[in-house]
Amino acid sequence: MSLLEVQNVSKHFGGLTALHNVTFSVKAGEIRGLIGPNGAGKSTMFKNIAGFYKPTQGDILFEGRSIAGLAPHDISSLGIVRTFQETTLFQELTVFENTLVGCHLQAETNIFSAVLGLDKGKQKRAREKSMEVMEFMGLIERRDQLAAELPLGSQRTLAIATALASGPKLLLMDEPFAGMNPEETKQMMNLTQKVNDFGVTIVLVEHDMKAVMGLCEYITVLNFGTLLAEGSPTEIREDARVVSAYLGGGHRH
Ligand SMILES: Nc1ncnc2c1ncn2[C@@H]1O[C@H](COP(=O)(O)OP(=O)(O)OP(=O)(O)O)[C@@H](O)[C@H]1O
Ligand SMILES: [Mg+2]
Repeated sequence: MSLLEVQNVSKHFGGLTALHNVTFSVKAGEIRGLIGPNGAGKSTMFKNIAGFYKPTQGDILFEGRSIAGLAPHDISSLGIVRTFQETTLFQELTVFENTLVGCHLQAETNIFSAVLGLDKGKQKRAREKSMEVMEFMGLIERRDQLAAELPLGSQRTLAIATALASGPKLLLMDEPFAGMNPEETKQMMNLTQKVNDFGVTIVLVEHDMKAVMGLCEYITVLNFGTLLAEGSPTEIREDARVVSAYLGGGHRH
C-alpha cells in the first residue's frame, strides 16, 4: 500500500488553475522527487497535502485514509510535516528552543498552550527529544546559538531538525537546497539521506537537479499544474517533454 496517494487533485484560485487533475502515489520509505518549472504547482501541492489548502477537486489519502481538507494540525499529528520554501525559524530563539517548539507542535494545537501548558513530564520528554534531534542532525554544538546567527546551511538543517522533532512519517521538503554552495549542498544531501535511512519517507521539491537525481529513485514532474511525466532519474533526464518544459521555463534558481 502507498503511504501517500494524491488522486485527481485540482486546485483553483479564482480563475487560475494551479493544479489540474494530478495523480501520483508515494511508497513508504521512498525519497520522491517532485520537480517542475517555476509556477508549476509544486508548493501548492505541498500546501494541499499539509492541509494549508483544501483541494478544489480530488482526494488525498495518507495510510489509506482521506486527509483532504483536514486542518493543518490534524494532518501534522498524523505524521506529515512540511519544511517551507521561505524561512520559518524563530530567529530570536536558540537552536535548542527552536527544536523544542518543533516537539511541542506535535502535541498541541497552538504554540501558546504548547509552551505554557505542558506538564513537567511532557516538558522533560520534549527536552530529551530535542537533544536527540540536535545530536542526530549535528547541531548539538550550536545548541545555544540564536537561529539568526547561523550560516545558511545550519539554518536549513535546523528547519529539518524542527520538523523531525515532531516525529514525522512523511516529510515534505520545499527547496532545501536553494542558494546553497556545493559544499553545503553535499552536506544537505547526506543529511537528507540520513533522515530517510532513519525511516522517514520524503517528498523533495527542488530545482537543484544534481541533488534530486542523486537522492531520488523516482521523480514526478509537474508543468503548468498538470502531471507531465514520472520515472527514474535516467528516464526523466532523457524525456523530451521534460527537457523542453525546463528549457522553455527560464529558471529563477
Ligand atoms: N494563494 C494563491 N493565490 C493565487 N494564486 C496562487 C496562490 N498560490 C499559488 N498561486 C499560483 O499558483 C501557481 C503555482 O504556484 P506554486 O507556488 O505552487 O509554484 P511552484 O511550482 O512552487 O513554483 P516555484 O518553483 O517558483 O516555487 C502559480 O501561478 C502561482 O502564482
Ligand atoms: Mg514553490
